[in-house]
This record gives sequence, C-alpha cells and structure tokens, in this order.
Amino acid sequence: MKPVKRIKDILKSTAPEDSLLVRGWVRTRRDAKDFSFIELGDGSSVANLQLILPKGIIEADTFKDINTGTALEVEGELAPSQGKGQKWELLVKEIRVLGPAGPDYPLQKKRHTDEYLREIAHLRPRTNKYGALLRIRSEAAFAIHTFFRERGFYYVHTPIITGNDCEGAGELFQLITPGPGAACGLHPQAPLKTLAEDFFGKPASLTVSGQLEAEILAHGLTAVYTFGPTFRAENSNTPRHAAEFWMIEPEAAFMDLSGDMDLAEDMVKSVLTQITSGCTEDLELFDKFVSEGLLLRLEELKKKDYTRISYKEAIEILSSAEASFDFMPLYGSDLQTEHERYLTETHFQGPVFVYDYPKTIKPFYMRINDDNQTVAAMDLLVPRVGELIGGSQREERYDVLVSRMKELGLKPENYWWYLDLRRWGGTPHAGFGLGFERLLMLVTGIGNIRDVIPFPRTPGNLEF
Ligand code: 4AD
Ligand code: MG
Repeated sequence: MKPVKRIKDILKSTAPEDSLLVRGWVRTRRDAKDFSFIELGDGSSVANLQLILPKGIIEADTFKDINTGTALEVEGELAPSQGKGQKWELLVKEIRVLGPAGPDYPLQKKRHTDEYLREIAHLRPRTNKYGALLRIRSEAAFAIHTFFRERGFYYVHTPIITGNDCEGAGELFQLITPGPGAACGLHPQAPLKTLAEDFFGKPASLTVSGQLEAEILAHGLTAVYTFGPTFRAENSNTPRHAAEFWMIEPEAAFMDLSGDMDLAEDMVKSVLTQITSGCTEDLELFDKFVSEGLLLRLEELKKKDYTRISYKEAIEILSSAEASFDFMPLYGSDLQTEHERYLTETHFQGPVFVYDYPKTIKPFYMRINDDNQTVAAMDLLVPRVGELIGGSQREERYDVLVSRMKELGLKPENYWWYLDLRRWGGTPHAGFGLGFERLLMLVTGIGNIRDVIPFPRTPGNLEF
C-alpha cells in the first residue's frame, strides 16, 4: 500500500505528484457546480490541504456523509492550485469515508470561546488553536530535553507516589486504599482503611516536587533533571494554578545560586530559540489571533539580560511605587501576583530574578545565608505569567539543616536519607523547578492555564 503522507509535508512539495494517499478530517466543504472544495486537516500544520472533489465520482449517499468533522482517506493527484491562497491542491480520484460526522458535530466553522472549548476538551485538539498549542507543547518538551542533554544533564525519573512533603506547604493529595470487600476505590460506599493499616504502612501522597529525590541522584551523576507530573491540592482558582501540572527540575552538584540563575536564564532562552524556529507558523497564529505582538516579545526575551534583584530591593521598589496595591508590600511576606506583575511588567518590563528571600516564607531545604535571616532562593518572574521558575541553593551543612528542620517542626528522622547526603560526600548544590504550563503560557500568550494542558485538573473539574 502507498505510504500515507502528512499534510505538512505535502504542502512543502516542490513538484506535482501523480498519486498521493492522505488521511485527515474535513474542516470545511464548499460546493460549486461541478466540484466540491474540501479543506482537509490532519493535525500536522495550521494550513489545510485543499481537495478538489469532482461530482460524480462518489455516490450521493457517501457525499452526504462528508461534512465538517468527517474522517477521510483520499487518493489523488497533487497539482498546482488554480485558486488563490494555496500552492497545491489534490485532485481526488478515490475517496473513502472512515468516520462520518453529522451536522450536530460541535465544532462548526466559526470561532468558539475558550470556555466552550474546555467543555469539549475531547474535541478541541481538532481546532486550529489547540492543534497549534499541542504542537508547540511537543516541541517545547523536546527543546527542554535537548538543552539539558547538551549541557551534560541526565534525565532521571523520580517517584510520583511519595511519603514526604517537599515544599512543606501541606498541599498534598493523600492516597487512600479501599478496605476489604470494596469492589473499587471509586465506589462511594467503599470502606476506607485507616492510614495505619494502609498499603505502605505510612501516609502516602502524590508528589508536589521531585526535588528531594533529584538531589540524591545529582549526588551520583553530578547533574540531572526530571520532567514529570506534579500534584498540588491548593484550592486557588486562578488562571495560573492547576492541581496537576508538569514540572522540569534540574539539580546539580557543585552549583551555587548564581550558577542556578545562569542555568535558568540560558534554559529559557535556548528553549524559546528552539520553539520559535521549530514552530514559526503555529506561533504566527497566536500572534495574530491570541496575543498581538507575541513574536516581537519572544524575540526580546531571547536577547535581553534578565534583571537580578534581591527580595529586599524588590520590596523597596514596590514600597516606593506609585501603583496602588490591594496588598501592601511588606518585608517578610510573600510577593503577591500584583507585586510580581508590577516588577516584571511595569518597573523592569522584562524578566526579573528575585533572590535571597526571608527564610520565614521558604521551605526547610534552602541554604541559610550569612545574615541568618534570608535563604539562597530565587524566583524568575516574567511578564503576563508572574512566577515561571522557583529554585534555590540547598542547605548542605548537616547541623544547620537539622536545626532548620526542628525550627519548622519537621522530624529529622523522617528525612534520614536526605540528611545522609550531608554526612557523606555532600556538596554545595542547587536546582530549580520550571512550571511547564507557565512556560507555554509565556510562549503562546494564552492567558489561562486550562488552555495549555489538554485535560486541565482544577478545583471542581475532573472530566475526561
Ligand atoms: O516554586 P515551586 O513550588 O518550587 C518547587 O517545587 C521546588 N521544589 C522546585 C525545585 O527547586 N526543584 O514550583 C516550581 C514552579 C513554579 O515556579 C511554577 O512555575 C510552577 O512550578 N507551579 C505551578 N504551575 C501550575 N500550577 C501550580 N499549582 C503550580 N505550582 C507551582
Ligand atoms: Mg515558588
């Protein structure tokens, strides 16, 4: 059988072809006197392939089934297009309906709202916008792997089921197994075992971060990164938070905070460079229909030096700002989204690293600075998205770490393995976490995290 060609490749053809086999879904059908014009898409590009279907080569019954949404297999001749708007068209010789779609197909040719498309997340991959997003998402994932691979970082896998709360923020999804006699864990009447009898013999949850395990692996391989799903039961209904998101977490031995910021900046720039060259057409769609000026902004993000300021300087800037904030910027409290946006969008108009946060608002593992008040932490803030990256140099001094754990009410014996890393061959080391969906919001200009992940999990939403 003839190999099937993807539409992206067909559209790049340099010469006509006598016979081509192609499969895809009908985007539109327009009928003229002797022909029908069909726009066929297969998810490989924004542009569709125009089919010219002569009347009379198919039965009227079959013809009725060829509507927007129908899945087709077509053989024909690739010829230069007579019409405007496309270089090539396919003169159909044979056509087979693989899956018909009636007029009730929910994606008719018009612009649908994001809210409506979220309700039909099982169909939205067939739209131009989500097709483009999904291709960019794929390219971005490969770009990240390429960057770390070229830097000598090994890709490692950290567990999804875990017995520790890395961030200490209490945002864990706890796991519970059904008790004896229960047919299924989802069964509402299933008796639930108590934690003590539970599967692991201790509380278990879904991971909020692979960092602690990545630290272990970095102490064997020097430089590693994870790229996996993470889960947070934070009940914040914002356009930037999801209960399940993908995080990239590099971790390197022999690296300090300034090396960590260098790595983060290089990574963002390298990934943007790969995506803008690999997904030009898809990005043009977002520039045109979603976020005007996107391409220019991405060019700037690739070139600019990212500002670096301490948390103290950030608070000073915010305190003397003309803007009126809902929350007063106060030394010792977390930066609010409005503060982050002011710094990155108004004051610096570009990406900003904020480093050296007060220890009181950061987790136990961050390295205490000489002032004994701040920790060697950094966040990268970017326009429109806010916090894109959070990272730190880790506390490598055994005694300091133990007293910090006790200060925060953590039991050092629960972290015996983490402390062991500091007993034998410990190193100054650092890493960060990049929220993959936030990166995609930056790259596409899409304003809601629900629209950069195929099946968003947010409070109250668990369809699909
Ligand atoms: O700042 P966070 O909480 O840092 C950590 O988890 C560290 N353990 C990472 C490390 O050093 N290895 O999360 C890192 C990033 C944030 O900057 C943000 O981009 C993203 O993860 N993120 C979320 N993205 C979507 N939805 C949420 N609920 C998110 N929470 C964090
Ligand atoms: Mg953070």
